[in-house]
Amino acid sequence: MRRLSASRRGRPLSRGIAVDLGTANTLVYGQGRGVLLNEPTVIAVNHHNGEVLAMGHEAYAMIGRTPGHIVAERPLRGGAVTDFDATAKLLKLLFQRVQGGRTVRWGKPRVIICVPSAVTNVERRAVEEAATEAGAGEVHLMEEPMAAAIGAGLPVQEPFGSMVVDIGGGTSEVAIVALGGVVVSRAVRVGGFDLDAAVQRYVRDAYALAIGERTAEELKITLGSAVPLQPEQEADIRGRELATGLPRHVTVGSAELRAALDDQVGQIVRAVVETLGECPPELTQDIIDEGLWLTGGGALLHGLAERVAQETHVTVNVIDKPLEAVAIGAGSVLDSFRDLQKVFQGTSTSAMHR
Ligand SMILES: Nc1ncnc2c1ncn2[C@@H]1O[C@H](COP(=O)(O)OP(=O)(O)OP(=O)(O)O)[C@@H](O)[C@H]1O
Ligand SMILES: [Mg+2]
Repeated sequence: MRRLSASRRGRPLSRGIAVDLGTANTLVYGQGRGVLLNEPTVIAVNHHNGEVLAMGHEAYAMIGRTPGHIVAERPLRGGAVTDFDATAKLLKLLFQRVQGGRTVRWGKPRVIICVPSAVTNVERRAVEEAATEAGAGEVHLMEEPMAAAIGAGLPVQEPFGSMVVDIGGGTSEVAIVALGGVVVSRAVRVGGFDLDAAVQRYVRDAYALAIGERTAEELKITLGSAVPLQPEQEADIRGRELATGLPRHVTVGSAELRAALDDQVGQIVRAVVETLGECPPELTQDIIDEGLWLTGGGALLHGLAERVAQETHVTVNVIDKPLEAVAIGAGSVLDSFRDLQKVFQGTSTSAMHR
């Protein structure tokens, strides 16, 4: 049965919520209140009765440590919803946390959810339905690079090209925006998690040592790089020796780790170069004048900005608060909904009224 949205029934929508539903981290922005929540996108569910035991930081700590019937999982992979039920449950918990008991009094909230620009219609539908299921009164989807550009204060509504590269956990997206829409975009399903996996593989192959996801991520953040470091550095890591199963530690150097990351880093940089190649000439000129903008956690990899600059011959800036820019951008659309809604209606996002 089709239901009308709260606003259509004449009841006011409660304060809006903007969600950056990322593969690695989920951020929630409360209308007029700013970023209220920033947690890993992980949920722990008891598979005997479907009960949600934990989410976010608490569920993250459970990964790899749960008894059989409890599963701590990431409901998104490669920027897409792979587990619909878990996503709906996660959204419901998030809405409850930021709203308290307000829903009953004020009706259901207007919700903006940021999704990768490459999502298929089926994936869009899955996110929209998960949000409605979780209690949204009105759902708008917004492309992440557009949200990041707004969050960075770029002139997205002007006849001027701005280029944003969002390197997340599961996807890297490149987009050129102008006049409130995405003109050219490209997404590769390579992100921070793939760099972590490359670190894990390298340490296993080169040192016969097994390391966990978290150790790999830490090593990537402390020692990983996209250009030579001066001086090169080293770090001690601990893992489990494959042959004996016993704990052992080894010293890894930044140059060898850079080589291990090169394939994935190369794919991200190539996506940037190719997108620039598809850009209409007038917009290319704007980008040459103003530079391009990196965002997402992956933008913080040592030397990545420098590497992109070397290969594109364009100035590269890293957006302030790269892990929050998408949520801040989507939140400012909520805060100025009348002025900014043209940014997504009929162009890069769809609104769903049920
Ligand atoms: N200092 C750092 N150096 C390198 N990588 C980092 C750093 N800080 C965070 N990251 C990586 O950034 C990634 C998370 O970024 P972000 O929160 O933007 O992703 P997401 O939005 O959840 O994912 P997606 O947009 O792909 O769905 C993780 O893979 C993390 O390891
Ligand atoms: Mg993201």
